[in-house]
Amino acid sequence: MKDKFFEGADFKGKFKALIPEYYPAEYRRYIKEEKTLLQRKVRGANRVLEAGVGIGRLIPYLAPSVKKFVGVDNATLMLGEARRIAGHYKNVRIKKLSLETLASHFPGHYFDYSLCAWNTLGNVKDEAKVLKNLGKITKRSIFITVYLKGTLKERENWYRTVGIKLKKVDEKNEVFYSYSGLKSKSYSKEDIKKIAVRSGLKIKQFKVLGGVILWAEMVSG
Ligand SMILES: C[S@@+](CC[C@H](N)C(=O)[O-])C[C@H]1O[C@@H](n2cnc3c(N)ncnc32)[C@H](O)[C@@H]1O
Repeated sequence: MKDKFFEGADFKGKFKALIPEYYPAEYRRYIKEEKTLLQRKVRGANRVLEAGVGIGRLIPYLAPSVKKFVGVDNATLMLGEARRIAGHYKNVRIKKLSLETLASHFPGHYFDYSLCAWNTLGNVKDEAKVLKNLGKITKRSIFITVYLKGTLKERENWYRTVGIKLKKVDEKNEVFYSYSGLKSKSYSKEDIKKIAVRSGLKIKQFKVLGGVILWAEMVSG
């Protein structure tokens, strides 16, 4: 089975992987810390992009305090869920786009801020390609959150708790594979610094959230 994870192959009902009430404590703490940080950072912005909007988890927390919120994704299930949430807000638009081609769909520096949250970057083939696109269309900062290297046990417990069926764990590189086609990478600060250089970006700030997730604020270099 390939690329069926974000179409819901692991779950019979709700898409538990993006619903924090199903998470172990440290991941719930990450979600809470991320929400507070993002709300503080984007408040008052003109335009905000969420690259890989998923089920629209962040829309209710961020859309009310910005002028325009755009969410993009390429999975049909995710787009449907995000559009349902977006229906409650006049200033939210959801578009079907690939993260690798964003710069050909929006003008240069169109967004004040871009987000790539909950390890979306760790799901793509070429992180630098996605970040280069975000760099072109973002005026101020790009915020990313990714799995932090050194948290294998916590991650294994997270996957089990939400009910994702793991096919393989590459313990050396801390990459998890599900039967449904998910490949989920993880990063150290050094890894992210290297990717930032390849993307023409600079790291403004790192933080560790919930002890398990690495947050980085990036700006054009
Ligand atoms: C881990 S989820 C995160 C969702 C959301 N950002 C959140 O924090 O709840 C990653 C999302 O990115 C989307 N995605 C992954 N690779 C993509 C790509 N190359 N182009 C567009 N969307 C992609 C997936 O479909 C999924 O909805």
